[in-house]
Amino acid sequence: MERHEFFVTCAPGVEPVLFQEMKVLKFPKVECQVGGVYFKGTMEHAWLANLQLRTAIRVLRRLARFEVMDADDLYSGVRKVDWSPFLAGDGTFFVDAQTRESALDHSQFIAQRTKDGIADNFRKRERRRPSVAKERADLRVHVHVWRDRCTLAVDTSGDSLHKRGWRTYQGLAPMSETLAAAVLLLSQWDRKSPLIDPFCGSGTLLVEAALLARNIAPGLFRSFGFQNWPEHRPYPYASFRKKIQDLGDLNKKLFLFGRDLEKKHITGAEANAESAGLGDLFQLSVGDALDFPFKKGWGAWVVSNLPYGHRVGEDKDLEKLHRDVGSKLRQEAAGYHLALLTGERRFAHAMGFHDWQEHTLRNGSLQCSLLTLDL
Ligand SMILES: C[S@@+](CC[C@H](N)C(=O)[O-])C[C@H]1O[C@@H](n2cnc3c(N)ncnc32)[C@H](O)[C@@H]1O
Repeated sequence: MERHEFFVTCAPGVEPVLFQEMKVLKFPKVECQVGGVYFKGTMEHAWLANLQLRTAIRVLRRLARFEVMDADDLYSGVRKVDWSPFLAGDGTFFVDAQTRESALDHSQFIAQRTKDGIADNFRKRERRRPSVAKERADLRVHVHVWRDRCTLAVDTSGDSLHKRGWRTYQGLAPMSETLAAAVLLLSQWDRKSPLIDPFCGSGTLLVEAALLARNIAPGLFRSFGFQNWPEHRPYPYASFRKKIQDLGDLNKKLFLFGRDLEKKHITGAEANAESAGLGDLFQLSVGDALDFPFKKGWGAWVVSNLPYGHRVGEDKDLEKLHRDVGSKLRQEAAGYHLALLTGERRFAHAMGFHDWQEHTLRNGSLQCSLLTLDL
């Protein structure tokens, strides 16, 4: 199979975690960069990346790089590419453009000229042209212009990889599935000890933990952009996917506990577990996290995303909650391992721990701190 250049994107701060995932899966020629990880490999590696990587957001295949000083350079660079392996003449596509420190400094204009270049490329050859669709396009094209160099790429993933396909319940502030996976990997959970999320909401961390421990690929619940491409070979892909599916240890016994103050979130977490094929694996309860019975000598992991403030005046309550969580864990959870994601640094400090490691991450547009430590 032919080799191509790929760039796997991830959320800011997650690059080293993604890089480690890719090393373990033996991706060829990996390089950790800002915003993601580069590798050089075959489309089979792209299949693997989409199916198996837990912290990746998109897997982009690079098609061309060239200098762009003006709109004509961009247009002719786009027209030169053979788009036919990725898009049919009657297909739909969408262009996502970004630009920094360049003469072409308007991303919408870049997207428009790229669309023109792709459409004219087809019109000349086939006398028909693909149309633009924002939703459910057959092909997503990424144009990245940085310091007057343009990189054109096609998105092998389609929908962002955080959309695993198992979620039926959102809840109030669900954390993204890819962030949950990053938190779990950073927590260094041994994938067999009990794991507790006392603020579990819709159960994202618990579902991702079960998939991780049972070695179930997160991409098995959905399809990907490359499956729409004319060059795609469905039969080899189906057998490749089956091999990945067979790696799952579906009966591995796990002890996963979740709690939330609100019954509707617990019901939602149950629905999410069901839809991910995890049945009644979780031991869920409605109640206050501060009453959770942490058993002595369990050596469990507490991995959780503590509440964020949404309304003015909530800060004091939140600070108190963090203080109370910190003192409860210190009193009752000796020997436990903690990975706690908090909305703000001062809340992290309010917990009153010493010797913790801090990782700065992002939950959507919010910057947050992940504290990891062994009690
Ligand atoms: C940031 S959300 C967690 C989101 C969750 N990780 C998810 O993916 O859906 C925090 C959750 O804590 C719950 N909560 C707030 N105070 C609580 C308390 N004292 N005890 C238990 N749960 C609480 C809220 O109902 C909310 O669902």
